[in-house]
Amino acid sequence: MKNKSATVWSTRFKNSTLKTLEQVGASIDVDKRLFNEDIAGSIVHTQMLVKQKIINKKRGKKIIGGLKKIRIEIKKGKFFFNKKYEDIHLNIEKRLFSIIGKDAGYLHIARSRNDQVITDFKMWLKKSSLNIIENLNVLIKIFLAKSEKNIQTIMPGFTHLKNAQPISFAHYLLAYVEIFKRDKKRFTNNIENLEECPLGVAALAGTSYNIDRNFTSKKLGFKKPTSNSIDTVSDRDFVLDFLSSTAICSMHISRLAEDLIIWNSDIFNLIKFNDRILTGSSIMPQKKNPDPAELIRGKAGKNFGNLQAMFTTMKGLPLSYYKDMQEDKNLVFESCDILMDSILITKELVKNLQPNKKRMLLLATTGYTTATDFADYLVQKKNLSFREAYKISGKLVNYAEKTKKKLDELNLNEIKKVNNDLNKDVLKVFSAKNAVNSKSSYGGTSIKNIKKMISKLKREFK
Ligand code: ARG
Repeated sequence: MKNKSATVWSTRFKNSTLKTLEQVGASIDVDKRLFNEDIAGSIVHTQMLVKQKIINKKRGKKIIGGLKKIRIEIKKGKFFFNKKYEDIHLNIEKRLFSIIGKDAGYLHIARSRNDQVITDFKMWLKKSSLNIIENLNVLIKIFLAKSEKNIQTIMPGFTHLKNAQPISFAHYLLAYVEIFKRDKKRFTNNIENLEECPLGVAALAGTSYNIDRNFTSKKLGFKKPTSNSIDTVSDRDFVLDFLSSTAICSMHISRLAEDLIIWNSDIFNLIKFNDRILTGSSIMPQKKNPDPAELIRGKAGKNFGNLQAMFTTMKGLPLSYYKDMQEDKNLVFESCDILMDSILITKELVKNLQPNKKRMLLLATTGYTTATDFADYLVQKKNLSFREAYKISGKLVNYAEKTKKKLDELNLNEIKKVNNDLNKDVLKVFSAKNAVNSKSSYGGTSIKNIKKMISKLKREFK
């Protein structure tokens, strides 16, 4: 009698696979995450085989009953995942044999693990992309709520990490709303490529059975079957799309974390975090460190690496299926988990940060941040060219620097040293608030613009 625990290919093998190889080759620890999709795929595949009269109804019913039982076992944690059977597909098939006997052998008609694995994977990726999109929606709402509370919070905007021009803190936060909207769009766009169903292309050439790929495709939530069997089993573009989108989104979150870490530093002191999201030091009693922000900045690196790893795996692969591609799932699961954790932490960072409004306002006019406003004033009120006005404003900055004053501390007589033709009306350009409000061009930081933008976005993210 044949050994019940033999691998499916044991007939052809004189020796069984080396134990060490089994350990390396098995992907079950990773791809067991696909069990739900795998069982759904097998059930629909069986329904199609019955509908097409490739297997009889009774047998089909038995197979589907067994598969449902396995689903319950896995959900209840009562399923033994065996490395000997490599992956989720063969683990389930093997268990099906032990539940329903040799009828289980009819399930793998007209399919291969090559089409099976990517059917599962595409379904999983669609589900996870939608989940990420949902979480980005929540994150955007948190940014919007924070923006609404900080429309009048004026801070220095930076370029080169030098104080550049006064902005509203809300305007900074709304920048991230735009950023996350683009991330959402990337994940949404990826879905189009996840909507072609691979099931039924079998190993690489298609199959001689009279299968109905439109049926399986529709029942599994795809739009249509893939068009070329060779391309189908070779294609991992959808994996690269996902890894690329997660890498880009992680990069955005990392940049945000970097800003917040800098602003939370004792030197900048522009924001304060609630203790809930800080950690202490084991030696320095005074410390409160923004560890969560640092962690998501750190973890982003892994997501760039995972994208690079997948490119490298694919680069030299001839068509069609090669085992190299099995590595894709580990990369995707890790990147997905990292991104989900990062979004979760970002939500808390934003909710639990308090702007230090007084210091923000002070720094908003420190470093001669209204020098451009003065130049613009000269252009608009005195008809000068921008280059002329720029020079005059530069001279005023030189004077302020020499006299150790801020621009908004200069009096009219001092300002008139650089241009005689001025009256006290000019003094208003040095106020941070006026500087903010003057940027009323579309997309600019004026309070009026921000209010409009927030109500528009609130309608979009109800
Ligand atoms: N576990 C495999 C993977 O993830 C399934 C496909 C295996 N096919 C094969 N011919 N070895 O890629």
